[in-house]
Amino acid sequence: MILLETNIDGLIETYDFAEDKNLQDLFQLISKTIKNYDADAHQYGEVIAAHLKRTSELGRDFLKKLGFSDTAAGNFYHANLLQDLGKISPKYDSGIWNLPHRPTEEERAEKRLHAGRGPEVLDSALQDDSEELKNHPHIQVTKAIQLYHHERIDGSGQFALTGDKMGDVIKVICIIDAYDGDMIHRPHQPCKRTPEETLERMKSGKKYQGAFDLEMLKKFCEFIEKRD
Ligand SMILES: [Fe+2]
Ligand SMILES: [Fe+2]
Repeated sequence: MILLETNIDGLIETYDFAEDKNLQDLFQLISKTIKNYDADAHQYGEVIAAHLKRTSELGRDFLKKLGFSDTAAGNFYHANLLQDLGKISPKYDSGIWNLPHRPTEEERAEKRLHAGRGPEVLDSALQDDSEELKNHPHIQVTKAIQLYHHERIDGSGQFALTGDKMGDVIKVICIIDAYDGDMIHRPHQPCKRTPEETLERMKSGKKYQGAFDLEMLKKFCEFIEKRD
């Protein structure tokens, strides 16, 4: 797989999603496909869509606080709505997203592949579209979010991206995705965590050691405290 330009902080400021009708139609259609995924079994598509909406809203508002323009924050919102698109890859059996037990190491590894599968699913949705649309900077931004939203600043993530190469947009989505994901109810984990418990785990829990940019995490904690 070709790794993308990782610092998308500049790129995300160069266009306005709201001005491109073809792009909007495409993204709306894919969002609908995500929502309908697994509709006949566990409605897992609705779980994904709700997580994507929450993280998009949080990310948009937090990026504005960090000084990104309203347009860039809006672009982030729409790109992140396809963040977990790889989860609906035809390579998966949808049951893997609704395991009744704690996932085994093998199942965990399989689930992690969704990051790399996002751009594949997006490319197949784009195959009949114009070169102009395929090369739109928003597609590049979306693919970067898909690929890198589970990276860790210590370089121990799937693509070994380190903090110095991430840029703020990727650092932010890694934090926000973990924040929201840690509070989601799962069949094997019946008690939901509160935002306070989750932020505490992210700051000092063993699982997250080396995962986040601590300066950014501090700003995010302040943002959450003021927001609620
Ligand atoms: Fe993900
Ligand atoms: Fe996610």
